[in-house]
Amino acid sequence: MIVILVGPPGSGKGTQAKVLCGKFGVPQISTGDMLRAAKAAGTLDPRYRAIMDAGGLVPDEAMIELIDKRIDDADCKNGFLLDGFPRTVPQAEALERLLAGRGLAIDAVLQLDVARSLLEERLIHRRTDKRSGQIYHLVYNPPPPDAELEHRADDRPEAVGKRLDAYEAMTAALLPYYEAKGLLRRVDGVGKPEEVTARVLGALGRAQ
Ligand code: AP5
Ligand code: ZN
Repeated sequence: MIVILVGPPGSGKGTQAKVLCGKFGVPQISTGDMLRAAKAAGTLDPRYRAIMDAGGLVPDEAMIELIDKRIDDADCKNGFLLDGFPRTVPQAEALERLLAGRGLAIDAVLQLDVARSLLEERLIHRRTDKRSGQIYHLVYNPPPPDAELEHRADDRPEAVGKRLDAYEAMTAALLPYYEAKGLLRRVDGVGKPEEVTARVLGALGRAQ
């Protein structure tokens, strides 16, 4: 199973990916998480770090190289769920080439649809548990008292607006691209996370 989650920052890609990967036994490949892990390890190119923190997009070639290596890992042999990649049409074209070269193809592209007016509020109140990677929201899904909370550098209000603009300028173009290939399935991303999960499973033709 090769599934792509597309949606603006804060639409719930990471939240849904964790549930779906648990159900299907495939890894979540989040390019954002991979970049943040490299940043924490001090191995991320400082130019990319500055781009990320400001809310821009890291160059396509660097992201394509990262994915080219990752999908050969042993845990990807039964498929994977891509969260945050591809994010531009050149990345989508490169992904198709990488998959075709391995005899693989995309099963579905799920678009999580959430209005921009709701996204800022979701992002500004997001916190992540450093140890478990679990995603919380200070109001909708409060963390337990013993969580070791992290606030993402790009969740500052100045960066959030830039990320939403980058989505509209670059990533939204993926929707007609995948629609034309008959792969796109739109899912309403508003509601409780478990309601969204039920819609996602329905869109994939899977029972709860
Ligand atoms: P990335 O980490 O992919 O960030 P993003 O796309 O901006 O998405 P987020 O992680 O912010 O949101 P999400 O959709 O995962 O939502 P979440 O589930 O956390 O990328 C970060 C950066 O890395 C990019 O800006 C770029 O610089 C770089 N990058 C990464 N990939 C790249 C690529 N391919 N090319 C170039 N650059 C790349 O939920 C958000 C909040 O909402 C949480 O608080 C959560 O609890 C809450 N929430 C979730 N679901 C619900 C719900 N149903 N109701 C209420 N609240 C909810
Ligand atoms: Zn995410």
